[in-house]
Amino acid sequence: MDLKQFVTIVEDWPKPGIKFKDITTLMDNGDAYRYATDQIVAYAKDREIDIIVGPEARGFIIGCPVAYSLGVGFAPVRKEGKLPREVVKVNYGLEYGSDVLTIHKDAIKPGQRVLITDDLLATGGTIDATIKLVEELGGVVAGIAFLIELTYLDGRDKLDGYDILTLMQY
Ligand code: PRP
Repeated sequence: MDLKQFVTIVEDWPKPGIKFKDITTLMDNGDAYRYATDQIVAYAKDREIDIIVGPEARGFIIGCPVAYSLGVGFAPVRKEGKLPREVVKVNYGLEYGSDVLTIHKDAIKPGQRVLITDDLLATGGTIDATIKLVEELGGVVAGIAFLIELTYLDGRDKLDGYDILTLMQY
């Protein structure tokens, strides 16, 4: 299946000059959403994954159906102040300024093999921060899966040495 036909390119959003990749038109098509999920499940099956980790909000949309299909758990990475128990934190850079991502301290057990999921690999900053959280808890990043990679932003360079799957490239 050509998944790109289900992604809507929105010109000049959220700012002039940006061609936003809207995946809601992929998600609201049952066949396309299942097909994309199945590709990531097949990738995960080869890597003996114990748990999925995804950053809010779209990392949940990609990771949760994969976790369900594999019969493994899902641990959310959230912005600061959203998780109710003890967390570990990491600062990460944004286009303007910085933000903090967190994960529950007991979400991953040392040695567990983790698949990280998100919708989009842009600069790689979000997933670089997510890797730091996983590794601080002793998890092993066994794979990282995205729907879309913006190759011209070179996010892959920031994730050098990790095993990456992207289903669509722009
Ligand atoms: C978007 C996207 C990725 C991230 C990619 O999330 O869903 O998580 O940006 O960019 P990067 O590779 O440059 O870090 P956003 O921060 O907009 O959060 P949201 O999913 O909650 O809207």
